[in-house]
Amino acid sequence: KGKNCKMVVRPAIMTGRGAGGGRAEDAEIFTASMSFASLPRGKKVALTTLGVVTAGGAGLALILHQSVKASELELHPPQYPWSHAGPLSSLDHASIRRGYQVYKQVCSACHSMEYLAFRNLVGVSHTEDEVKTIAEEVEVVDGPDESGEMFTRPGKLSDYFPKPYPNPEAARAANNGALPPDLSYIVNARHGGEDYVFSLLTGYCDPPAGVIVREGLYYNPYFPGQAIGMAPPIYNEILEYDDGTPATMSQVAKDVCTFLRWAAEPEHDQRKRMGLKLLMGSAIIVPLLYYMKRHRWSVLKSRKIAYRPPK
Ligand code: HEC
Repeated sequence: KGKNCKMVVRPAIMTGRGAGGGRAEDAEIFTASMSFASLPRGKKVALTTLGVVTAGGAGLALILHQSVKASELELHPPQYPWSHAGPLSSLDHASIRRGYQVYKQVCSACHSMEYLAFRNLVGVSHTEDEVKTIAEEVEVVDGPDESGEMFTRPGKLSDYFPKPYPNPEAARAANNGALPPDLSYIVNARHGGEDYVFSLLTGYCDPPAGVIVREGLYYNPYFPGQAIGMAPPIYNEILEYDDGTPATMSQVAKDVCTFLRWAAEPEHDQRKRMGLKLLMGSAIIVPLLYYMKRHRWSVLKSRKIAYRPPK
C-alpha cells in the first residue's frame, strides 16, 4: 500500500536537485542552495570570513563583558560536612553551647538576637540553673511599679536576650552606617545558610590588585559586593572555651554557626526524629493498608457481570 509515496519524492529532496519531478518544494530547495553555491569563489570566501569574524567578535564581546562584571569576584561558599547535615543527624549540642559562648562574648557586642529568650537554652545547651545564673547577670528594665516608675531588676528565664543597641539608628551610628542584622534567623535568611556564615567569618582577605575598598569597609569575597561593614570579628584564641576546646578560628566559626542553625531552627532535632518515626510507621502501615484494600476490593474486582437476555 505505502509503496507509492515512498518512492516518489525522497530522492529529490535529499539530493536537492530537481531531477525527480516538478514539485514546488523541490524547486525551492534547488534555488535556495543555488544562491550561495553559484557565487564566485572570491565572494564565497569573503562571506564566510565575514560570518566567522562576526560570530567570533560577538563571542569575544560577550566573554569580555562577563569578565568585568563584579559578580565574577564573588565566591560561592563550599558545602561543609556539618555533623548535623545528614537526614537523620541531630545538632551537636556541645557545639551549640560553645557557640552561645561565642555569640555572648563576641557577636552580641553588635548583633541582637531578639527572638531568643533565656528559657530557650534550657535543656538544649545549658541546665535550668546555669541559664538562671546567665540571665541574672543581665539588667532588665521592668515596670512600672506602684509609683509609676520603671525599675531595673536581674534577668529571668522568661526574658529575651538583651540588645546591644536601643534602636537601628543607634546601631548604624556605631558601625559606620552599616546595620548589624539580627542573628536570630540569619542562617535561614542568607543563601548558603551556615556554609555562607562560616565562609563569611573565616573568608576575610586582602583585596586583589586594583580593587580599592572604601575606608571603614573590609574585603570579603563571600559577601555580595565584597565590601562589608563588619570588621573581621573572630581570630585564633579570641576567647577561651569553658570546656577546654582549643579556640581556633575555624572552631569558633563552626561553633557559632551551629548555634545560629539551632537558633533559626530550634525544631531541627525534633523534625528529623519525627521524620524517622513517620518512615518507620508508614513502613508498617502502608503494606497493611495495601493488603486490606486488595482484600476488601477483591469481591468487586473479581466479579463478572453477565447480561442474560430475557427468553
Ligand atoms: C563590631 C561589631 C560586630 C561584631 C562584633 C560582629 N559583627 Fe557581624 N556585622 C556587623 C555589621 C556592622 C554588619 C553589617 C555589614 C554590612 O551590611 O556591610 C554585620 C553583618 C553580619 C552578617 C550578615 C552578612 C550579610 O550577608 O548580610 C552576619 C552573618 C554576621 N555579621 C555575623 C556575625 C557573627 C557570627 C559575629 C560573631 C562571631 C559577628 N557578626 C560579630 C558588625 C559586627
